[in-house]
Amino acid sequence: MANQTESEQYAFNAFANLPFYGSINSEFIELANIYDKKSIVDLGCGTGNITKLILQKLQIAKDSVIYAVDSSKSALVTAAQEVENNSIVKFIHSEVQNLTDAVKEKADAMIYCNSIHYVPDKDKLLSEIRNKLNTNGVLAFNSSFYEGSHPEESLDFYKKWMFRSFRLLKKDHDLKPDKSAKVSSREQLTPEDYIVLLEKIGYKVEYIKAKSYQVPIDGFHYISEFKDWIEGVLPGVPLEIGKSTLQKALKEIFNEMKLATVPRNWLSVRAVKV
Ligand SMILES: C[S@@+](CC[C@H](N)C(=O)[O-])C[C@H]1O[C@@H](n2cnc3c(N)ncnc32)[C@H](O)[C@@H]1O
Repeated sequence: MANQTESEQYAFNAFANLPFYGSINSEFIELANIYDKKSIVDLGCGTGNITKLILQKLQIAKDSVIYAVDSSKSALVTAAQEVENNSIVKFIHSEVQNLTDAVKEKADAMIYCNSIHYVPDKDKLLSEIRNKLNTNGVLAFNSSFYEGSHPEESLDFYKKWMFRSFRLLKKDHDLKPDKSAKVSSREQLTPEDYIVLLEKIGYKVEYIKAKSYQVPIDGFHYISEFKDWIEGVLPGVPLEIGKSTLQKALKEIFNEMKLATVPRNWLSVRAVKV
């Protein structure tokens, strides 16, 4: 639509509303076990699906508060519309790297879902998060962008999907991705790297676990209309062309490989400030 911004038009919420994604995060929030906490920060809250999960289970007290932080204004607008019963939620427009300024008080828990891969300097960020946690405060994060998130049996699919996308891009639009436009910040760590880093900074890692989930074609279809994904896999390509090309290639490859789903690993971590 003409009067939508790019971030609104190529948004995350269609993907975020898929049932398979909901169950992954629901399981993760269960594991994070933060329901008795009074002040919780939802870092990189996006369109509010995690905020909603936290709210559903939180034992709400008079002074409970959830700070939902995101750098995308349009995601926050959607989140504010989607999160019902949001009187205890404070939406904050900020980069997570500016946490010290963005959230004034210390929190009992920080939830950081599916976003840690955006931040290049994880050491600095995890230290800043620790500074903003009360003693015994919990940091829980999950990610499917870490070193080890692609099971061996999924590699052929990604290779074929990307190769077909590049071919269609050339054939239909005479375009190719511009490697110089590649987003540089998507650095991925191994689970062991995370343990070493967290312990060095002053957390006790209580739980770190990778689990494989089956991603349906809808997952890849809708992630292909998310700005950040398109820019990550087809840098420099206009978003509308990137989206339609990825979706067309996806359909062809799923059919040719006779796939029903593709496995992907999610890492879940619960660490406590010591
Ligand atoms: C993949 S979405 C995840 C949304 C939600 N946490 C979830 O798990 O469904 C990533 C979100 O992180 C936000 N984001 C990316 N980099 C950020 C940064 N440096 N500071 C704050 N938010 C950021 C994006 O705007 C987007 O809304």
